[in-house]
Amino acid sequence: MIKACIFDLDGVIVDTAKYHYLAWKRLAEELNINFNEEDNERLKGVSRMKSLDIILEIGNITLKESEKLEFADKKNKWYREYILKMEETEILPGVKIFLNQLKQNNLKIAIGSASKNALTILQRLNLIDIFDSIIDGNKVSKAKPDPEVFIKAAQEMHIKPEECVVFEDSIAGIQAAKIGQMKTIGVGNHQTLKEADKIINGFKNIDLKILEF
Ligand code: G6P
Ligand code: MG
Repeated sequence: MIKACIFDLDGVIVDTAKYHYLAWKRLAEELNINFNEEDNERLKGVSRMKSLDIILEIGNITLKESEKLEFADKKNKWYREYILKMEETEILPGVKIFLNQLKQNNLKIAIGSASKNALTILQRLNLIDIFDSIIDGNKVSKAKPDPEVFIKAAQEMHIKPEECVVFEDSIAGIQAAKIGQMKTIGVGNHQTLKEADKIINGFKNIDLKILEF
């Protein structure tokens, strides 16, 4: 029986993927690299430095570690300009209602995100207090598909992995949850997320029945 739900943040609770894209695109332009929305799919769920490596690989550019850190910092500054302007209305449709339903039915809820900006985003959306546990990119050392982020969330909630379900929009995230022995629900594209136990388009009209496996 499912006792807890763990949510990825970017692309599940809120569509920050578009802000990541705009900031990476600006950086790619500065480096004279052609970078489009299709390339951007490869960055979902992937850490900041790994994302930069993918972009440099697309542009066939090699940089020193110190230069890479500078560029990653630059991208993050631009990205933060977007997220610092975010509003509660940007929470994706149905998410708040679903979270409240889970709480009312005594299920535990957590965030399991690779982002080091997760707390800033959750603060902007007034969503900090609703979660029983928030594990973000500052609390883990291994990136998805390593299950560390989800295992830590389960531990903080004192719930066994097999009693957790993970909501994810990235392939790496679905793989991480599966390796961690958790149930998986893909949020988004059915073709991309076909490895998940279930797939939904979003949280509009989703109720607790989705937790029956
Ligand atoms: C999430 C996003 C990725 C992003 C990563 C790190 O997993 O899906 O696109 O690169 O977080 O985010 P950060 O905010 O720390 O740069
Ligand atoms: Mg995501």
